[in-house]
Amino acid sequence: TAAERIEALIAAMTLEEKAGQLTIMPAALAPAPANAANPAAVPGSIEEQAQAVREGRLGAVFNGDSADWHRRMQTVAVEESRLGIPLLFAADVIHGFRTIFPVPLAEAAAFDADLAKRTARAAAEEATAVGLAWNFAPMVDISRDARWGRGVEGAGEDVLLGCTLAVARVEGFQGEAGLSDAGAMLATPKHLAGYGAGAGGLDYNSVDVSERTLREIHFPAFQAAFDAGALSTMAAFNDVAGVPAHANPWLMKDVLRGEWGFEGFVVSDYTGDFELIAHGLAEDERDAARLAFLGGVDMSMSSNLYALHLPDLVRSGAIAEADVDVSVRRVLELKAALGLFEDPYGRLAPERVEANDQPRHRELAREAGRKSIVLLKNEGGVLPLRRSDRIALIGPFAEGREHLNGPWVLFGDPAYAVPVDEGFRAAMDDPARLTVVRGCEAEGPLQGGIEAAVKAAHAADVVVMVVGEGERMSGEAQSRVDVCIPEPQRDLIAAVMAVGKPVVLVLKCGRALVLDETAKAARGLVVGWFLGVETGHALADVLFGDHEPTGRLPISFPHHTGQSPFHYDRKVTGRPPLSLEPREEFKARYRETLNTAAWPFGHGLTYGDPVYEGLDVGEGQLAWQGELEVSATITNRGDRVAEELAQLYIHDRAASVTRPIRQLKGFQRVRLKPGQSARVRFTLTRRDLMFVGRDHLWTVEPGRFTVWIGPNAESGLEGTFELLAPASA
Ligand code: IFM
Repeated sequence: TAAERIEALIAAMTLEEKAGQLTIMPAALAPAPANAANPAAVPGSIEEQAQAVREGRLGAVFNGDSADWHRRMQTVAVEESRLGIPLLFAADVIHGFRTIFPVPLAEAAAFDADLAKRTARAAAEEATAVGLAWNFAPMVDISRDARWGRGVEGAGEDVLLGCTLAVARVEGFQGEAGLSDAGAMLATPKHLAGYGAGAGGLDYNSVDVSERTLREIHFPAFQAAFDAGALSTMAAFNDVAGVPAHANPWLMKDVLRGEWGFEGFVVSDYTGDFELIAHGLAEDERDAARLAFLGGVDMSMSSNLYALHLPDLVRSGAIAEADVDVSVRRVLELKAALGLFEDPYGRLAPERVEANDQPRHRELAREAGRKSIVLLKNEGGVLPLRRSDRIALIGPFAEGREHLNGPWVLFGDPAYAVPVDEGFRAAMDDPARLTVVRGCEAEGPLQGGIEAAVKAAHAADVVVMVVGEGERMSGEAQSRVDVCIPEPQRDLIAAVMAVGKPVVLVLKCGRALVLDETAKAARGLVVGWFLGVETGHALADVLFGDHEPTGRLPISFPHHTGQSPFHYDRKVTGRPPLSLEPREEFKARYRETLNTAAWPFGHGLTYGDPVYEGLDVGEGQLAWQGELEVSATITNRGDRVAEELAQLYIHDRAASVTRPIRQLKGFQRVRLKPGQSARVRFTLTRRDLMFVGRDHLWTVEPGRFTVWIGPNAESGLEGTFELLAPASA
């Protein structure tokens, strides 16, 4: 049996070979740059890496880019190493492999689990066809601070949406045919834990959140992903309340394995074990390897520290060989589950590459692109655009392919992306009526750019400006102190707005942006994120009205960066503002603005006009064992189709610990023709009302709750209900 084979292998392995199975290195594709901080992190030449595989010093490799390379290395592992254990090939396939889909944050705006699952499946189909079997995705970190650049890789600020999309993405990457299927890619919910909560929104920074916040906000998406079958996870770079995640037995053993029953393996982040020295926890590299291993990290990424030090740590008695065997067993079991022992080349069959239906994936990218777009503002019905109008398309992202795919694209070729102007031309009656002017660069001025833009605006009926962040302004290590549109672009916007033509701003971004008053005054505001290969078509589909805008914000857009971290489910405080007055002394608010959003979580307009009426909470009582239906009617009073995302929120009015202003507990999509009505119905049980009590265990307390059904986190029809105490026996 597979189990017997694994035990036989473990019995036959040297300590060096065991440490090798617990080591992953970047693929030696090109001469690697020197790494002064940690020379061992350099993978060496292809031949050096092949030799490490041959000698059993390396069990997994990541970010190899081709079937040929994977076949070559796998042959060395299977045919030339002493025990013939196959290599595990991994990569960061964050939002597509060759076909690039919208960045995960954009896709979260679709509030659509089925869509997320389909794009993840398509990505895995493409990636596995070159031999990849393990994905360093999905990132399930909740991100509530717009300054943090990696929010772009996640599902936004909300726990319910985060859990929903974590499950969908795990199911998509891993597929339904079992892990041994050639199209299955092992998913890695990451980064455990709290990586999105770095102080000041600074990447890699210290995380000091309460255990309640960890359990209520940062843990649930991991648990949901593991329950959905994910069998690996990655440690976070940060410390958690003083203990780095890479040396944190409470997190990686007590919680992950003890409480959640996780049976897969934990991989370090890139040199995360080595970084225990910089954290000030480890004396030296050997000590770092010891602390990481004892902290529950099974596999070491990029630092090579396990290969270098685990054998000696065992020989000196600092680590028990039986514990090393446990980690090795986890890795070998996963290799077996992925079918690698049965057929090490199974994912490399050339016909699988050819069977990859790129047109089908492109169509999916276009669908995902348009469903990710969020319409924030549409004054005077400036959108949809008229195909016959003279349109000035202005801004650094109005043309060109380089900023469309977004961050974390290792394998997709920007040359395949459809630029915005190309999408517009394809949609217009007379493409000659489109004038395209860059105006400035993403972060710098362009000689004569503003003059050309102003001239084009004068000659147009309507102006569409594509502005915001360049694709390298969000992502890893891209924290910002001010999440504004860069200054050269603000100057461009001001000059064009001054012309007086109707202006629509399309915002490219991987985070929430703060707009100045000039930008906010544009007649139309659209969040266009980084939409991937079908950017131009997807934007044209929505802006010209072939499709309704259906996206909703998965993150709050604040008025000022200084509000960060800002999220809709913040605590009430003892001094909540009582009014919208400009000044209200001694309340929890800033001198300059209310602590509300410029555009709240869940917000997004449609071309129709959905109106909410008739909230019904029945008797307003939820029995301990029972259900409560909460419903409302939505009527489309507009003259175009409305596709509305009805959202249900609750607030616990009195509990033994303070509760958020609101929490999302359900969402439902309805599509309404002009004049049409529909009733949306949500069912609540006491499970929806649970929270982490003073003892840090999940609990629920009887009492009164406020409930809303509405279009976003700051409005809606309001009612109340009571959770009744359990009937006494
Ligand atoms: O998977 C990533 C991780 O999210 C950030 N550091 C590098 C890893 C491997 O590329």
